[in-house]
Amino acid sequence: MKFSKINGLHGEVTIPGDKSISHRSVMFGSLAKGTTKITGFLQGADCLSTISCFQKMGVSIENLGDTVLVHGNGLHGLKKPEQVLDCGNSGTTTRLISGILSAQDFSVTLTGDASIQKRPMKRIMEPLSQMGADITSVNGNGCAPLAINGRLLHGIHYQSPVASAQVKSAILLAGLYAKGETKVTEPSLSRNHTELMLKEFGADVRTEDTTAIIQPAEELFAKDIAVPGDISSAAFFLAAGLIIPNSEILIKNAGINPTRDGMIRVCQAMGGDLTLLNVRKTGEPVADILVRTSSLHGTDIHGNIIPTLIDELPMIAAMACFAEGDTIIRDAAELKVKESNRIAVMVENLSAMGADVEETADGMIIHGGKPLHGAVIDSHLDHRIAMTFAITAALAEGETEILGAECVNISYPNFYQDLKTLAH
Ligand code: S3P
Repeated sequence: MKFSKINGLHGEVTIPGDKSISHRSVMFGSLAKGTTKITGFLQGADCLSTISCFQKMGVSIENLGDTVLVHGNGLHGLKKPEQVLDCGNSGTTTRLISGILSAQDFSVTLTGDASIQKRPMKRIMEPLSQMGADITSVNGNGCAPLAINGRLLHGIHYQSPVASAQVKSAILLAGLYAKGETKVTEPSLSRNHTELMLKEFGADVRTEDTTAIIQPAEELFAKDIAVPGDISSAAFFLAAGLIIPNSEILIKNAGINPTRDGMIRVCQAMGGDLTLLNVRKTGEPVADILVRTSSLHGTDIHGNIIPTLIDELPMIAAMACFAEGDTIIRDAAELKVKESNRIAVMVENLSAMGADVEETADGMIIHGGKPLHGAVIDSHLDHRIAMTFAITAALAEGETEILGAECVNISYPNFYQDLKTLAH
């Protein structure tokens, strides 16, 4: 797909549902007694993979578009699937479901696409095994396919080496079924949607600093969920509104959970003109964000803020090319094990467009202010890379071609349409 310069973005854009919250609403709804009505559900390929996995385990799920009805089977009501469960491109599906499946009274094999089969699963196999799970990597390489034989589990206190909501959530979900209390301590706080939503469904879960603590449950109870817009999707228009000249856009319905709002804080630290309007709660906190073209300056991004903007770092790195001075991203080695190696892929593609960027062991250094030119960009079929370069292309001289651009269907199927609408 080809992209070229945009002279300004104007108008309003309503952000599609949060991917993390959409996944969890289907999973917890499937494990609950009663019908969970989900509104604002993200119809992205990743969340559809989650629906399909639970349907294969006997849960009746009606996907009506924006609304999804999950007729839960109760905590002990999943059935052994007849086929292998295919998690597609979704790390969240693979890792969270593994926690649930480790405690069922059946065996199952989980797999996914080529990218999923390269992503590290030892990070969940290790703690789940400590809880008594029988979970193995079929090819012995620590990646999917995973063979899981459900077992009786017991609670543990796991000191996670990484701040990862997927790891934390896999353990907490296994903890619902385990004997005794389960605790997960992370080096810094990752997104807390699992903790918040499980509580809504009736689980006994609490947090103390960066430790989440769950008690075993007898049952979960259905709860209607209004999914807020995904701040990770809003991030592309936040950046675009700041860096594309003559822009003023209103980004509607963005979730601003404090464990996810690092992008907003970084934009402000770089001198970005953005205003939160109509701040409200629809389960989780939500706001509309007014953003105007701004002259940005570089910043230093590291430490506890990293998990709160981990998926936004590709867009932040590209945005930093249009800021005065240097932007230094550290403590972000997790980027290497996302849908692609996002440090290598960002450095390769930004360099191809003429940017001055350096790869470091755990991040990047971006020397801002160099003009960019069009190039051929390989998305590596990573949705966030494709969207990042559709925005970057809007500021480059000449044409940019993005290979595999259709992969945006993972998290934001209408992305190009929304960009086009704002550009006219
Ligand atoms: C997610 C957690 C993050 C994030 C991913 C979604 C989740 O991954 O990058 O897009 O829904 O829990 P990690 O937990 O591996 O950091």
